Amino acid sequence: MRTHVVDHPLVAHKLTTLRDERTDSPTFRRLADELVTLLAYEATRDVRTELVDITTPVAATTGVRLSHPKPLVVPIIRAGLGMLDGMVRLLPTAEVGFLGMVRDEETLQAATYASRMPEDLSGRQVYVLDPMLATGGTLVAAIRDLIERGADDVTAICLLAAPEGVELMERELAGAPVTVVTAALDERLNELGYIVPGLGDAGDRLYGTA
Ligand code: URA
Repeated sequence: MRTHVVDHPLVAHKLTTLRDERTDSPTFRRLADELVTLLAYEATRDVRTELVDITTPVAATTGVRLSHPKPLVVPIIRAGLGMLDGMVRLLPTAEVGFLGMVRDEETLQAATYASRMPEDLSGRQVYVLDPMLATGGTLVAAIRDLIERGADDVTAICLLAAPEGVELMERELAGAPVTVVTAALDERLNELGYIVPGLGDAGDRLYGTA
C-alpha cells in the first residue's frame, strides 16, 4: 500500500476553507468538489491507456486514450457521494458503482450493506471515494470487497487522513495493489473518532444535517 499526500498550494488553500467551521454547506460542497478534481488529477496519474492512431487537420499521429475495461469509480455512501461529480468531471467515461458500508456495533467490523456494481472486476482499476480516512475500518472492508471481485488496482481518494487509518490500511492491505491519495495527513483521532484538527463530520457538513 502506498500513501500520496498531494502537496499543492491550491489544495492547501481549499482545504483550509473546508476545515473552517464558519464555511456553510453550499460553500463546503463546492470546495469539496473542486478539491476532489485536484486530487483526481494526481490519483489518475497511472490510469491505464492504450495507443490510438488519429489524424489531425495537419498529419497522422499516434496518441493515447483510456484503455478497456473502463475505470470504475465507487463512492462510499453517504459522504462519498459528495465527491462523485468532482471525480467524474475528469473521468467522464468511467463507470460508477456504489457501496454502502455499515459498522456492526457488536463486532465493530465494517460490512457491506448495499452494493451496486459489476460482480466481476477482473483487470479493473477502481477509484474509491471516501472523504475521511479515520479508523480505516470502512475503507479496508470496501477495498477487500473490490479486490475479492477481481480489481487489480485500487486508489482511495480521501480529503483527509488520520495516521491511525493509514496504519490500519498498511497493516491489513500490506502487499495489495492499493494507493491512498489525500489532501492532508492530520495529527490523530480524538476519543470520539474524529480526525484532529480535521473538518468535523463530512456528511453533515456536505448535506447540512446536524
Ligand atoms: N468521519 C467524519 O466525517 N469526520 C471525522 O473526523 C472522522 C470520520
